[in-house]
Amino acid sequence: MSKPALLIVGATGNNGTATIQALSAGDKKDMFTIRAGVRSEEKASALKKAFPGIETVKLDLDKPETLDPAFKGARSVFFILGNNENREEQAKAAIDAAKRSGTVEHFLFYSVFGAEYKAILFARQFRAAEEYLEASGLSWTHLRTIFFQENFFGWIEGIKNGALYLGIRDGKFAPLNVGDIGEMATNILTTEGHHGKAYNITGPELLDGPVMARIFSEVTGKEVNYISPDKETTLQSLLSQGWPEWQAKGLLELFEVFATNQAAVVSPDGEKLLGKN
Ligand SMILES: NC(=O)c1ccc[n+]([C@@H]2O[C@H](COP(=O)([O-])OP(=O)(O)OC[C@H]3O[C@@H](n4cnc5c(N)ncnc54)[C@H](OP(=O)(O)O)[C@@H]3O)[C@@H](O)[C@H]2O)c1
Repeated sequence: MSKPALLIVGATGNNGTATIQALSAGDKKDMFTIRAGVRSEEKASALKKAFPGIETVKLDLDKPETLDPAFKGARSVFFILGNNENREEQAKAAIDAAKRSGTVEHFLFYSVFGAEYKAILFARQFRAAEEYLEASGLSWTHLRTIFFQENFFGWIEGIKNGALYLGIRDGKFAPLNVGDIGEMATNILTTEGHHGKAYNITGPELLDGPVMARIFSEVTGKEVNYISPDKETTLQSLLSQGWPEWQAKGLLELFEVFATNQAAVVSPDGEKLLGKN
């Protein structure tokens, strides 16, 4: 009997790849035919080389003509948006395509921690898509994730020079590991009982800037000091590194949420999805 098709949108990114990795291991590997949505032949080849069992399909959320062929016959969807300002429109177009397919039984939506409060731009973008999905009639699950540990690779130059620049003052949050997210998504996609649920995912431990700097000191073997620059300095630094203005300003809003301890929680949802409690 042929296996049901799982379409992964955003398959070439951090979370998409982590999820394909988790789905390709052990007894999970025979559950789906993985259909990875890709925008370029080059990335399709690289992904197939890394995961020989998967299929790839051309899918660009900004090219409506690619949507119906990509969703055709898919039974499950893991939908991961990229870092695009038009996220809401992209998500709506994909949700419409999933509905038109007539075959999608479960739409797992990758979202952000705190989406439901709509307090900052990123939350509003993702919540608008969540709401559209909830009203679509499709069966859905939201996987709402907080700031990744892997983001700190972007801070590497400062860390190498002995400084962790992070504008969260004395706030705390619990950074999350992307490999773990792949495992959590895999659990949701391969077990029952997740339909109509929103999971709020944090890392396992609240950390503040000085503690993060100390961890970097320990792993690099050289002193790393925590420095919390003011908002304007952070904004100018992000812009000079090439961040688009909308995203840099969104990140500043997120840092303010962390600085004021509005996201200073450790949610149990992730550990549950990892089978740890
Ligand atoms: N960084 C964080 O701490 C954090 C926390 C929570 C949520 N998020 C959000 O979670 C999402 C996923 O994160 P990630 O790190 O996995 O992202 P990522 O590594 O940047 O991957 C994004 C994926 O989306 C694809 N993509 C981009 N534009 C597309 C389009 N027009 N049509 C089809 N596919 C497109 C990319 O394809 P290509 O390879 O072709 O570019 C890639 O596969 C992002 O929206 C991110 O902002 C981030």
